[in-house]
Amino acid sequence: MQPTTHHASTMMMNQVDLRSLVSKHGTPLYVMNETYIRHQIRLFKASFIHSKIQTTIFYASKAFLTLAMAQLIHEEGLHIDVVSLGELMTVIKAGFPSEKILFHGNNKTSLELDVALKHHVGYIVIDNPFEYENLINKVTQTQKVMVRINPGVEAHTHEYISTTKHDSKFGMSIYGQDTVELIQAITSHPHLEFCGIHCHIGSQIFDPTSFQKEARLLLEMIHQLKVSHNINVTHLNLGGGFGVRYTHEDDPFDIQVHFKHILDYIQDTCDELGLDYPHVSIEPGRSLVAQAGVTIYSIGATKTTYSNKKFVFVDGSMADHMRTALYQAKYEAKILERPLAAIEQTYAIAGKACETGDILIHECPLPQPHVGEHLVVFTTGAYHYSMASNYNRLLKPAVIFVSEHDARVVVKAQTIDDLLAQDVLV
Ligand SMILES: Cc1ncc(COP(=O)(O)O)c(C=O)c1O
Repeated sequence: MQPTTHHASTMMMNQVDLRSLVSKHGTPLYVMNETYIRHQIRLFKASFIHSKIQTTIFYASKAFLTLAMAQLIHEEGLHIDVVSLGELMTVIKAGFPSEKILFHGNNKTSLELDVALKHHVGYIVIDNPFEYENLINKVTQTQKVMVRINPGVEAHTHEYISTTKHDSKFGMSIYGQDTVELIQAITSHPHLEFCGIHCHIGSQIFDPTSFQKEARLLLEMIHQLKVSHNINVTHLNLGGGFGVRYTHEDDPFDIQVHFKHILDYIQDTCDELGLDYPHVSIEPGRSLVAQAGVTIYSIGATKTTYSNKKFVFVDGSMADHMRTALYQAKYEAKILERPLAAIEQTYAIAGKACETGDILIHECPLPQPHVGEHLVVFTTGAYHYSMASNYNRLLKPAVIFVSEHDARVVVKAQTIDDLLAQDVLV
């Protein structure tokens, strides 16, 4: 399914003309194809199944979370992961069943642990011994926990979104004696039910064998825990990180083919090591939502610098589009009113923030843009709204969900009053 379709004088999201959304809501504007998100979720659910292995999918809510999104995830029958009090309270407010919530993160506060326990979240993923100490000082009834393990697998991805090199801040090393000690402490605690190992090897991963390498290392660890320490691991969470197509250079693997390979591989490895098959989970974030989203901007000035670099300025910035500045991420864009027009030359798309690095797209081939036209940047459904800030006191855009024929506001645009609401005048 295509999240958007192009016509000579506009772009459509399902049956909705994106120009009508601009007229009604202005720009910058985040627009998400709800039908596409549901389609992706169903594809993941249909692909991540196995005749011998139980499976669960947790949506990694950090990619994009609002009340409406949490409701949608629940309607589609997924579990969900959260990493902060804000994410946790959003999913609880949306009516998400607490037993389907997994809470991870490397430095949960005392308040976060209190709230997670009060709401009986399904799983708490312990990142380090300090968190374990905090938790046992609070827990008074059975709580399922997992331990975040760093297997040191190098996934081919950007340095900042690779989470498992040996010097990463996340989790306990697969090779550490302190890791075994932590798991032993958990298994002997009367209120903690140790149910497994949690891991995440990075994001925007295109090589499916990275997940097999990850699974192999973790299953070997599970085997070691069993034979050397008599500890039974029943759950294995492989994390997220499945790559998506931001530009034509990206080539995500086919999950329908490769999820089966990964699960078959886990079955074979368990057979080889003499292990019972664990319950296997994944935590996709961007692969469920990134391609569903576009951001629409109004085109302002164009500028040619003394060195002949061509800029197009838009009315948003790195405050609503962080990933280019953060990860040198690449994007594609088209002019809303002329998506099929012949390309004239390559421009840098820059925002209005007071930063030289405020570039949304470094090299964007476009027809000659005109003031008053609009630029549609593709694949902005993940880590855009969720990373948006008020840098330069810029306002966060509204978020629109587009179903088959209708569009609805799921997050209102921030106003100047909203912006000033937390400030205290002395
Ligand atoms: C622990 C964990 N799980 C899942 C994800 C989701 O990754 P992605 O959005 O690339 O699927 C992340 C992303 O950082 C993560 O840290």
